Amino acid sequence: MNKFYEDVKYGLSSNPKRLYSKYFYDKIGDALFQQLMHSPDYYLSKCELEILQLQSTSIAQDINIEFDEFDLVELGAGDASKSIFLLQALLDNGSDFTYYPVDISQNVIELLEAKLPKLLPSIKIKGLNGEYIAMLEQLAKHGSRPKLILFLGSNIGNMNLDEAALFCEKVRDLMNPGDLFFIGFDLKKNPFTILTAYNDRAGLTRDFNLNLLRRINKELSGNFYLDAFYHYPNYDPISGACKSHLISAKDQEVTIGEGTDRFSIQFKQHEAVFMEISKKYSIEEIEELALNTGFKITNHFLDSKKWFADSLWRKD
Ligand SMILES: C[S@@+](CC[C@H](N)C(=O)[O-])C[C@H]1O[C@@H](n2cnc3c(N)ncnc32)[C@H](O)[C@@H]1O
Repeated sequence: MNKFYEDVKYGLSSNPKRLYSKYFYDKIGDALFQQLMHSPDYYLSKCELEILQLQSTSIAQDINIEFDEFDLVELGAGDASKSIFLLQALLDNGSDFTYYPVDISQNVIELLEAKLPKLLPSIKIKGLNGEYIAMLEQLAKHGSRPKLILFLGSNIGNMNLDEAALFCEKVRDLMNPGDLFFIGFDLKKNPFTILTAYNDRAGLTRDFNLNLLRRINKELSGNFYLDAFYHYPNYDPISGACKSHLISAKDQEVTIGEGTDRFSIQFKQHEAVFMEISKKYSIEEIEELALNTGFKITNHFLDSKKWFADSLWRKD
């Protein structure tokens, strides 16, 4: 059976139950996320868009101080609707780079390979469909040029602090001295603002979470009844962890898989399935993370509200 099946079986057999947010992104999940990016309640994309729209020239200058021939790898690129401003600024500066968007969603990679050359005719692009570290390892084996690695959209927030540190160390081990890592962090702010982003009035975050159950039904022969689960996010302003859960509305049994791979899971009324963490950072936590994982901070780029930071790190 495939990794998706193994992870779903493992996660739903764990106590507490959990699913993994990297599986949110099938075709429907990609479209829901792109709708969410335009929702007035989901401030993250708008703040980071402002940084990239208004500050890409300065960011590109900081990058070009280090190198102007490089491989540009974007981890979890999504629709690249924000990073396109940086790509444009780098092309305008005459940088010579190949853009390698990495994404677990095949759909996203196909869309990017079709869309970007129309928007940026001089771009050299090679999409990589797979997981972050596996794709970086693949590139490290073949490429010898300096690397700029983008990890935008607060994707790092989908890890807790320990997981984020481990991840940054793994990325650092696949970089050479002088390579750059550009990471988007959602900053701690009014807790109500944060909670509303994960409990938007249009119900997009709810549908985004429930879509994973639909995906299990479709791809793994599950029989989740979506109306029997509801979405519950909460935010802890001390740890900065915003967590999404799906709650079982009643006692119920769900079966997944076929033939000898078929298994069933019991849900109690009110039982929670942990779906996703979206960790919020202070600037001090960002600086500690960089220092503890062997990076030197080159610069932080913040939006005008100081709600989001794109931080440029260098491996010494
Ligand atoms: C929250 S979206 C952000 C997209 C984009 N970075 C942005 O800022 O708009 C996360 C993206 O990362 C991809 N992704 C999530 N987990 C991944 C993983 N483990 N490996 C590769 N891609 C992943 C998803 O498919 C999705 O396109």
